[in-house]
Amino acid sequence: MKAFRLVITGNPGAGKHTSARLIADRLGAEIIDINEVALENDAVLSKTSHGADVDVKKLGKLLATALKKKDSFVIVGHLAPYVLKSAGIDMAAVLRRSPNKLESTLAERKYTREKINENVSAEILGVLLYDAIKAFGKRKVGEFDTTNRTPEETAGQIIAALQKKSAKRVGVVDWLAILSEEEVQKFFAY
Ligand SMILES: Nc1ncnc2c1ncn2[C@@H]1O[C@H](COP(=O)(O)OP(=O)(O)OP(=O)(O)O)[C@@H](O)[C@H]1O
Ligand SMILES: [Mg+2]
Repeated sequence: MKAFRLVITGNPGAGKHTSARLIADRLGAEIIDINEVALENDAVLSKTSHGADVDVKKLGKLLATALKKKDSFVIVGHLAPYVLKSAGIDMAAVLRRSPNKLESTLAERKYTREKINENVSAEILGVLLYDAIKAFGKRKVGEFDTTNRTPEETAGQIIAALQKKSAKRVGVVDWLAILSEEEVQKFFAY
């Protein structure tokens, strides 16, 4: 396959790294982890209980310089829409995962209730999808629901979209339609 520049983003626990590793293996490309680049280059302002506050301006500049030198890559991170420019990428895959599954994954990782709610409510509202469309343009963005799929299936779907063997779609996931009012209230309780 010709050179490609693929972004994988989505909320923590959506399945980004698992899918990215499979895709990078299959296509023989390098994975770049946005959080690692931030940590290695002093672009972290302060560490928090689960993650870090990142200097997005500094990180954006660092990544722009680093990516210019590369042909093909899979770049992964929930910060992607805030630190990458549309011109430097071919496609952005936004991974989606049902609120209940995301909740259990984050609970297994010992996130606090507050952090779980912060991430699950962002997932319900589709914040990252919206921000990815704003950053990269609708034409470059595809939404992939990992909820009832294996990592291999998700990787296959993303590769097919990247190779234009299937159309990218956005606006296909609507968690509000499947949640009860009580569930919504729980995730939005602060
Ligand atoms: N279709 C799928 N694609 C990818 N991962 C999946 C899928 N189904 C289940 N998983 C599982 O989801 C879990 C979370 O995946 P992963 O750690 O890759 O998330 P992440 O988005 O990289 O999270 P973080 O942002 O915290 O790094 C893993 O246990 C993974 O095996
Ligand atoms: Mg990960």
